[in-house]
Amino acid sequence: MGKGTVILAFSGGLDTSICVPLLKEQYGYDTVITVAVDVGQPEKDIRMATEKGNLIADKHYTIDIKERFVTEQIIPSIKANGSYEGYPMGTALARPLIAEEIVKIAKAEGATTVAHGCTGKGNDQLRFDFVFRKAGLTIIAPMREMNLTREWEMDYAEKHGVPISVAKDKPYSVDENCWSRSIEGGKLEDPAFHPPEEIYGWTVSPMEAPDEPRNLVIGFEKGVPVSLDGERLGGYALIRKLNEIAGACGVGRNDMIEDRILGLKAREIYEHPAATVLLKAHADLEHLVLTRQELAFKSIVDDKWSELGYMGLIEEPLFKALTAFVDTTQERVSGTVDLVLYKGCVTVVGRSAPQAIYSNDLVSFESTTIDQNDAGGFSAYYGFQARLVAQLKK
Ligand code: ARG
Repeated sequence: MGKGTVILAFSGGLDTSICVPLLKEQYGYDTVITVAVDVGQPEKDIRMATEKGNLIADKHYTIDIKERFVTEQIIPSIKANGSYEGYPMGTALARPLIAEEIVKIAKAEGATTVAHGCTGKGNDQLRFDFVFRKAGLTIIAPMREMNLTREWEMDYAEKHGVPISVAKDKPYSVDENCWSRSIEGGKLEDPAFHPPEEIYGWTVSPMEAPDEPRNLVIGFEKGVPVSLDGERLGGYALIRKLNEIAGACGVGRNDMIEDRILGLKAREIYEHPAATVLLKAHADLEHLVLTRQELAFKSIVDDKWSELGYMGLIEEPLFKALTAFVDTTQERVSGTVDLVLYKGCVTVVGRSAPQAIYSNDLVSFESTTIDQNDAGGFSAYYGFQARLVAQLKK
């Protein structure tokens, strides 16, 4: 008689695949139930995870939360211009929801233990564990607890008849959802190593991109992207389509050194074509409709929102309060943004909004609505204190 049932967060990749035999052999569980959560990774990956789970686990679930992921995580992240150290967060947004789905299955199956394939070096362990601990579950993390190398894992998989798709000469760790694709590990761990073209899956090389620019119009309602080139689309469909369009123009690649939560620096490579375009368009539209005070304060809020989001602390009370603030600011963020995509670059070339606080009549060189003499009085007091200090120094 073993330890009963364990629910395993399952991607079908090398780590989580060998967890199935490990949880029985090394940890003594009788039943391993695998759960794959669909957050918009390529369909073939979900299919592979489903087939593999059905093959090697005692029971398997595939849960589709694509729409929920877009509504509950991606849209709020657009409103908050969500980015960490300069790149649009992706993995960080998906992990808490994936964990919540695992918790639901654990409850339904009457299991008190969950397992995941995260290592003890990354962020994902923390994002998962937070949600699992909150639900009062026991956590097993074989990759973290056993200090395994990929080499050992591949041999173990072979011995246990677990099919693996990672070739020994291409051992990259890839994480995908519809907002972002991250690639790390293998030779990429040397920050000086130039990434080979083969690691990219969503974008063409900017050097190979078409010579013709691609014009694009994004429509927003209250901070939410709702149309592409005039066609109204749901969030998920819009993101999918935009990933294709922008990816084909070489937009959305990012090769960077990132500071992980634990403090480790890591070399990370990302692809996020739709995110690059939507975040740029959204931020531009905000500049047309928000006041200078709102923009300045919101940029602090956006940074904090992103930091907490990166840490997976979406249940943190401050995160909820910041989200409420961001939502309030988005009431007026409606309008359209025209962009041009060209060989890896995105440029905003025009914007318009019903609630713009831009007045052509006031700012134009041609207009006389403002009496320019008024500015003379304002100017007399301008930099008043700094001028006094400068005088004292003389
Ligand atoms: N560094 C990124 C993050 O923390 C991506 C992590 C990707 N995870 C993975 N298992 N490959 O959000």
